[in-house]
Amino acid sequence: MDKTRRIFLKSLLAGSALLVAESLSGNSLVNMVKAADNEKPSNLPIFTPVYSPGAGFPQSVASGDPTPSGVILWTRVDPSIIQGVSGNEYNPGLMEWIQDSSKSKVNSSVVEAINNGQFIMFEISTEPDFSSTVLRGYAPIYSDFDNVVKIDLDGYLSPRTTYYYRFVTKPGYVSKAGKFKTLPESDAYLSSARFAYISCGDYTNGYFNVLRFIAEEELDFVVHLGDYVYESVGDPTYQNPLPDRQITLPSNTSKAFTIDDYRTLYHTYRSDPDMQKMHENHAIIAIWDDHEFANDTYYPAVAPDDSLESSPARRLTANQVWFEYMPARVTFDPTLGFKDSLKIYRSMKLGNLAELILTDERLYRSSHPCGEGEIGERYLADGCDKIHDPNQSMLGVTTSDQRNWFLNRVKTSTAVWKIWGNEVQFVPLKLLGKYVNLDAWDGFAGERKLISQELKDAGVQNFIVITGDFHTFEANVMKVDYENDPDSSAIGIELMVGSVTSSNLKELIEQAVYGRITNSNPLPLPVMKEIIERFMGPITVISDAIVSEAINKLTSLLRIENPWIKLFDSTTHGYCILELTMNKATWTAYSVDTVKSRNASKRLLWQCEVPQGRTTLNVIAG
Ligand SMILES: [Fe+2]
Repeated sequence: MDKTRRIFLKSLLAGSALLVAESLSGNSLVNMVKAADNEKPSNLPIFTPVYSPGAGFPQSVASGDPTPSGVILWTRVDPSIIQGVSGNEYNPGLMEWIQDSSKSKVNSSVVEAINNGQFIMFEISTEPDFSSTVLRGYAPIYSDFDNVVKIDLDGYLSPRTTYYYRFVTKPGYVSKAGKFKTLPESDAYLSSARFAYISCGDYTNGYFNVLRFIAEEELDFVVHLGDYVYESVGDPTYQNPLPDRQITLPSNTSKAFTIDDYRTLYHTYRSDPDMQKMHENHAIIAIWDDHEFANDTYYPAVAPDDSLESSPARRLTANQVWFEYMPARVTFDPTLGFKDSLKIYRSMKLGNLAELILTDERLYRSSHPCGEGEIGERYLADGCDKIHDPNQSMLGVTTSDQRNWFLNRVKTSTAVWKIWGNEVQFVPLKLLGKYVNLDAWDGFAGERKLISQELKDAGVQNFIVITGDFHTFEANVMKVDYENDPDSSAIGIELMVGSVTSSNLKELIEQAVYGRITNSNPLPLPVMKEIIERFMGPITVISDAIVSEAINKLTSLLRIENPWIKLFDSTTHGYCILELTMNKATWTAYSVDTVKSRNASKRLLWQCEVPQGRTTLNVIAG
C-alpha cells in the first residue's frame, strides 16, 4: 500500500466503506457487489427502503470530486434516528484490516455495527429507479463527525458514465437518489466538456435560485470557488437577513467560533431545497475562500476582523467541518495542526481536453501587505513596497510547495485547456489611482508577475482562470506587466462569476445610501461610502436613481482605469457555464432577476468565445 493511500484511510471518513466491504467479502468490493443481486454475502443484511425518500436525511445527499472510476459520496443521517459509530473507536481496527490483506474474515465488531444499524448501505445504479444495482456496500455513519457518511468509490466505476446513488439505513430510511457523472479516462480523447461554476452564497441574503437553475442544467459537474457558507450570520437587530433566512448560532454570537456553530451553518445551508437539488443532480468540485473560516483570513489562521492573533483552534474547527461536509477527496488529520490538517489544492484531468487546477489562497497566504486597517490599508489603498515583493505570497508564505506544484501542473499539463480554479481577482483593480482590494492578487503583485512571467516563458497556451470572491461578473485579459507593458500579448483570460446571493457592488451602494447592512459585502461599507463621496460628493438625496447613477459611474470609471477588464457587471447574481471543445472555450454568464423571492427567472448576461490557441475574447451575445 502506498503512502498516499494509507494517509487517506487515516482520515477515517473517506475510504472506510471500501475497507469494510473488502474485508467483508475477503475480496474486492466490485466482486462482492456484483454478486450482491443474486447471492447475498454471508452475514450481511440487505437494508430495504420503508419510509418515503429523504426522511431521516435532513441534508439530503451530495457527490463530488469525480474521477474516471469513481466519486466521493456524502450524506448525513439524522442523529435522532441513528447514532453512528465513534470514529475514535473504529479507526485503529480499520487501519489494521486494510494493511493486512491476508485477512479474509470481517472483524466481528463491524458485522455487529452493521447489524446494529450504525453502518449505512449504499447502492449505485445506472437506472434512476435502482431496478438493478452495479455496486452495493456498507459504510460507517460517524457520530464523531456529526453523523456524516463519506465514501470514496475511486477505482470501482466506469469512465464517463452517469450513475444514480442512494443510501438505506437498517430501519428502512432511504435517502433521495443522487446523480453524478464519472470523468473520462485521463488520456482519452474528449470532444467536449461542460461545467458550471459559482461562488459566494450567503444564505441570509437571498434564496438560492441560482442553484435551482444549475440543478436543471446538463453538466459534467459544478465547481464551487468558495464562500459556500458565511461565518457571519449577523445581528438581526441591525442587519437585515430575509425573515425566513435568519440563522441563530448555538453560541448565540453573530459569527461562528465553535464546532457547533460551524456545523449549524452547514446544516442550515444544506437544508435549503435548491441547494439540495443542485447537489442531488451534480457532483461538485469545491475549494474554499475566506468565509468558510473568517473574513479576509491569512496565515497563520488570522481572522483580522476579530483579532490579529492567530486562532489555530478555530481554524482547525473550520477545517474539520469543511472536511465533514464537502464531498472532496482530501484527507483530514487534526494531529498535524491547522496548517497541515487538510490540503485542498488539487487537480483533475478531463481526458485530453482540459485539466482543472484548484488552488488554496487562504490557508498559506501572507498578511495584507500594507496593514490590516480597512480604508487605506486593506482597501482603497495607495499601496506599499511589500506588494511587489515575491515573498508576499498568496500560495505559500512559509513554503513554496503549492506555488511549485501549481506552476508545474500548468506548465506540464498535456491537456488542451488549462483551467485554474482561483479564488480572488487576478488582474489589477484600481479606482481613482488607488488599489480597490489588497485582499485580492493586487496585494500579491510580485508573485502574480512571477507566475505570469513563468507561464509566458513556458509558452503555456489556452490558460483560463475562473474566479469568484468579488460578487461581480468580469471578463479580463491577463498580462505579465499591467503598468509598464499593457500592450504586451496576453497570457490568458480570467472569467469571474458573480455571487449566488451575496451582496454585489450595487447592493453595497444601496446599503451606503439607505443604511441597510448585510453579512456578505464585497468591500467594507465605509469603503463604499468613501468611494461614493469621492466621485459623487455628499449624498443629499436618497433615491434609487442615485443608486443607479453611482453604480453606473463606478462601473465606467473601473473600466477606464483598468483596460484589461473587458466586461464588468456588479448589479446582479448568477452563475457561469464553461463549455470546452478542441476548437474553442465558450463562456456563458447567466443572471437571475431576483434573490429576494423564490419566484425568479434567469437571463443571459453575456456569452463569449475564446478560440483555441488565442487569448482573445469574442463577445457573441449579451
Ligand atoms: Fe464572498
